[in-house]
Amino acid sequence: MQNLSGKVAVITGGASGMGRAFADRFAAAGMRIAIADIEEPVLDQAVDELKAAGADVIGVRCDVSDHGSMQDFGAAVREAFGAVHVLCLNAGVASGGTIAEQSVKSWNWVLGVNLFGIVHGLDVFLPGLIEQDDGHVVMTASIAGHTSFAGLGPYNASKHATVTIAETLSVELEEIESNVGVSCLCPGFVATNIFAADRNRPESLQDVSKEPVSDEDQLAHEALIEWMAANALQPAAVADMVHDAVTSGTFWIFTDEDHLLQIAERHERIRNLQNPNAKHIRDDFFE
Ligand SMILES: NC(=O)c1ccc[n+]([C@@H]2O[C@H](COP(=O)([O-])OP(=O)(O)OC[C@H]3O[C@@H](n4cnc5c(N)ncnc54)[C@H](O)[C@@H]3O)[C@@H](O)[C@H]2O)c1
Repeated sequence: MQNLSGKVAVITGGASGMGRAFADRFAAAGMRIAIADIEEPVLDQAVDELKAAGADVIGVRCDVSDHGSMQDFGAAVREAFGAVHVLCLNAGVASGGTIAEQSVKSWNWVLGVNLFGIVHGLDVFLPGLIEQDDGHVVMTASIAGHTSFAGLGPYNASKHATVTIAETLSVELEEIESNVGVSCLCPGFVATNIFAADRNRPESLQDVSKEPVSDEDQLAHEALIEWMAANALQPAAVADMVHDAVTSGTFWIFTDEDHLLQIAERHERIRNLQNPNAKHIRDDFFE
């Protein structure tokens, strides 16, 4: 899709972090913007700020894990703008803890938002994109979709699933000679609010069985957030990459070139039938 001006971008999880940066970037390219997000005050603020910058924008409170909520969002977008051209399936949450510690509620929450949010988004918006034979789908996966960090089981599962959904969709669209493109965004650390994802965890999926967070864990969490603010990539830089991938029809979006080498090393270890090794995974990505 080379000319974005006047076209419509739909962004889930568009009120904060990377999704908000996508909204700013696509608005700057002259697109009309529809944001879906579960966190209302931040959503309202994003809409106000985008409007003040001159964008034509709607914001809809939507829980992407709920099919009906996504269908209502789709109806609101159709009513406001008629068509959709760029679909960013981006909303995401993370829950820490080993697989032995994870509750089924945590699996439901993370897979509900990160995986079923994508399934619901595709169900509502993909038929229109295919019919108009023009558009682009961007799925936010993660470098976690290419490796298996300890302590992030449900998140890793959701991001591996996202990578294969994006690849599968891309080859299926190619096979029907569709002009709809696909990109799979695989960021490393980006300075967003992802480490405070629990703010949006519904009451019914609260993990009551979990031990209260120890002072030590709380300090480590705060140190990680501080490190993110100082060292991680800024969301606006990722939004530029996403914009360029949409206009150039590029599938893979990696934010860090080293990740390509690390993925090659992982595949080499698989080819050699080496057992998974915690140190390799840590060293690959956090050296
Ligand atoms: N920040 C990173 O380092 C990083 C790295 C790789 C991938 N990602 C992925 O990037 C995406 C965006 O996250 P972010 O880092 O910008 O974090 P963020 O917390 O700043 O933004 C996530 C957005 O999703 C929304 N959201 C959460 N649950 C929702 C639900 N049920 N329905 C609708 N919206 C919901 C939040 O309100 C928020 O606006 C996620 O898919 C995340 O997994 C983040």
